[in-house]
Amino acid sequence: MDNKNVHVLDHPLVQHKLSLMRNKEASTNSFRRLLNELAMLMAYEVTRDMPMQEVEIETPLEKMQARVIDGKKLVFVSILRAGTGILDGMLSVVPGARVGHIGLYRDPKTLTAVEYYFKMPQDMHERDVIVVDPMLATGNSAIAAVERLKELNPKSIKFVCLLTCPEGVRALQQAHPDVPIFTAAIDRQLNDHGYILPGLGDAGDRMFGTK
Ligand code: URA
Repeated sequence: MDNKNVHVLDHPLVQHKLSLMRNKEASTNSFRRLLNELAMLMAYEVTRDMPMQEVEIETPLEKMQARVIDGKKLVFVSILRAGTGILDGMLSVVPGARVGHIGLYRDPKTLTAVEYYFKMPQDMHERDVIVVDPMLATGNSAIAAVERLKELNPKSIKFVCLLTCPEGVRALQQAHPDVPIFTAAIDRQLNDHGYILPGLGDAGDRMFGTK
């Protein structure tokens, strides 16, 4: 696999929290809290090259030009419904970002992505987009989301997930080689039902306590 455009966040805090989330005994509450914390850590890495601007401020001693994030140009796009967990964590560290939502569900028979909702901020052509979805499995949802976003011609698109597998990385990279992937781990494989192995199960169900 060509992992040129894939960034695995191999940091002890990230790996530790991910392992706690994988454990089937983790409660809904812990799972949600850990996802939130992981998303904050991932935000740190994925926003490394974020544009900044200078503003004049006054310290208790004198005026200065201080660097602040140009957060208004950034859009987090959450793929519903599981993207919500990552979105919350990212927003807590970049509160000035705008937010878009794409509703996609996975047809259980064909595993293809079906769109049911699409709402983005204005002026997408001026914005850098970070698409978030905890699991990059078949890649179908991610590919469909990026395709749809490209119609709006944003300045850049990055994809952030918690977990992926070789099949998902390959599919997204083949369809959109220009979109970097940020993930906490690349697991072994996809099973016949489109689940990642060893994975963590259904991220949405574990986050929301549904079945
Ligand atoms: N979506 C999930 O929630 N889990 C998987 O393993 C694959 C897709």
